[in-house]
This record gives sequence, structure tokens and C-alpha cells, in this order.
Amino acid sequence: MRQLKPNILEVGAIDWERRLFDELIPLPDGTTYNAYLIKGSEKTALIDTVDFTKTEDLVSHLIDAGAGRIDYIVSNHAEQDHSGSIPDMLLLHPEAKVVTNPKCKQMLMDHLHIEEDRFLTVEDGQTLPLGDKTLQFFYTPWVHWPETMCTYLQEDGILFSCDFFGSHLASSHLFVQEEAKVVQDAKRYYAEIMMPFRSAISGHLKKLAPLNIEMIAPSHGPVYNRPALILDAYRQWVNDPPANKVTLAYVSMHDSTRRMVDHFTEALMERGIEVERFNLTHADLGELAMSLVDAATVAIGSPTVLVGPHPLAAYAATLVNALRPKARYLTVIGSYGWAGKMPDQLQQILSGLKAEFLDPVVVKGLARDETYVALDDLADRIAAKHKEAGLVA
Ligand code: FEO
Repeated sequence: MRQLKPNILEVGAIDWERRLFDELIPLPDGTTYNAYLIKGSEKTALIDTVDFTKTEDLVSHLIDAGAGRIDYIVSNHAEQDHSGSIPDMLLLHPEAKVVTNPKCKQMLMDHLHIEEDRFLTVEDGQTLPLGDKTLQFFYTPWVHWPETMCTYLQEDGILFSCDFFGSHLASSHLFVQEEAKVVQDAKRYYAEIMMPFRSAISGHLKKLAPLNIEMIAPSHGPVYNRPALILDAYRQWVNDPPANKVTLAYVSMHDSTRRMVDHFTEALMERGIEVERFNLTHADLGELAMSLVDAATVAIGSPTVLVGPHPLAAYAATLVNALRPKARYLTVIGSYGWAGKMPDQLQQILSGLKAEFLDPVVVKGLARDETYVALDDLADRIAAKHKEAGLVA
């Protein structure tokens, strides 16, 4: 139990040990499931809950906080890391209503089998008085599910943003201590979770701009008592044009593709282009996602397995396609033993992106002189594209 302001407490859980989210996303720094207790002069509200594995922590913190009667359990987001304890909370607090929007209500009924009569639904912009404090709800769909919303505590200027602005960072500090570290973790979180919804987020940043926000209290990671830190970072990640940078993700079986990757890296560097390189046999996919936040070009390097890309290359391409980065150009380099459609299949996997596909460089067997010339030409084409697009400082 930690205090943001008088009568406003963080009562959630720190998950120091968790190293994977959704059985997909690496959590090198663990995570937290923040829940906030707001004691108004007449009513008490709990903002979000915790992952069901941490319900005991929430219950214990609520007892420590002397929570007593809870009138409202606000659910900003139906995903189970924040809603998982709602059923137990409703058993412990039979008087409590779950306050949320109609879409989230339906999802909570579907995922957690919460009875319909336990809900109080709110409209976008609606307020809910707690006596001397007032909650206001702002719909912010698609950060990162369709039902997500934020709750604003008017009198104290606190925005409870759930996943929005969050970071997977287990810390004993309630508030941000090392700004650079938190921004890096928040960038990782943005890249993995939020990036596909850039245009929605851009709209939400404008929608929330008129609010007098003194603190942003997300449901993962530390609370921002200097909101500009994360608001400015989000504006940059969402709105800025991509950088003069290539994200190069590759795998090599018998060294042919790796030699091409080495040459291609040097060729790009010689042309003043930043390269971030990921060997997919051991790359941290979170680092790869972060690289995609501002890469102008994404290149996949792959050998041919049977007739298609190496499964790790196909996996990376699937990830890139799903994360919808702002990259403007895509390409493929690699090799094959006797035949195959490796570049075509990777291009197909990446087809969800609105990016120009630059002709790939693919060699039969080990790279020869003409292969390296072709890679130089591809680097020239990328440099020219970046320059034409005004991405070169
Ligand atoms: Fe932290 Fe979308 O749940």
C-alpha cells in the first residue's frame, strides 16, 4: 500500500518474478498490476484490480488501507491482468458495482462470467461523484483492446490510464525515479502493445490534452508525477516521421545469409544509415519491437528451408506485420540451396503493411562478387529512398 495523495492509495501487486506476458512478450524487469483506492467523503472506489494470481496481495493491501466498504470497482480494461480479481472483489464486497463502459461490461461478462446486475455503465465524459472527489471517464478505445478507457480524478488531476502509458517494470518506488530507464521500459511496452494502434492513440492524446493532469497513474509500472515525460515520449513515438534507420532481423544456417547480412550492414553504414541488427536465434523480441518504433526500413535476412523462409524469419515477419510499424520500406535478403519462394512468402507475410517492397537480393548457395554488388545497390536504393522522403538530417 503506497500513497499518491491523501486518500488516494496504490493497493495493487508487484510481480517481481514474471518473465513472459501472454506467453509471448518478454518481461526482463518483471511488471506490476497497479490498482488504486480512492476514498471520497461519501463513496469509495477501487480503480482496476490485479491479475488473479495476485488477488491475495490486493486483499491484503486493501485491509492495510482500511478500505472498508467499496462502492465502485472501476474497470478501465477487461484484460485479465487488471480484471482478474474482480470476481473475488465482488464476493468480498457484495455492495460494490463494477463501473465501466458497455463494451467492457460485455467483455467482463464473457471472460469472467460477472452477472449483469453487478454493473453500472458510464458514457464517455460522464462523471461519478464520491463526495469531495469526482471521477470522470474518457473512452480511449484501442489502447490496446476495443473497450479501453481512462478515469480522471478531477480534484486531484490524476489520470488513471490502465495500460495506456504503462511500463513493465517491477519497482519498489511508487513514482518514477530514473526517468531514462522508465521511458525505455515504456517504449518497449508501447512497441509491443500499442504500436499497431498509433492513429487511435494520436487522437486520444489530443482528447486528453485539455485536462489538467498532475499525475498519470497507469496500471503497469511507476506513476508519473511529471506527466510531460511520458506524454512527450508518446507524441514522439506516435507522430514523428521514422528515422534514417534500418532494422535488420536475420537468421543464417550455413553462413551464406550471415555473410550477406555482414556486407549489407557495412554498406548501409557507409551510406550514413543507422543499422539495428537482430540475430533471431537469440534476439529479445522486445528489443526488436523497440527498434521498429522509428525504423524507416525493415529488412529480413533468411535462408530457405524446404521451399520457404526459415521459421524464425517467418516468425519475425509475422511479428513485424502484426505490430504495424511506421516503416516505409521493406526488403528481404538471403539464400537458397536449390529452389524456393522464400522472398515471395516473406513479402506475403508482410503484406499488411503500407510500405514499399524493395526488390530482394537472393543468392543460390554462397554469396559471390555479384551478390555483394547487388547488396550495395540495395543499400544505394534505401539511401536514396530515405533521402527522397526527407529522413536524412
Ligand atoms: Fe495490462 Fe491489456 O492488459
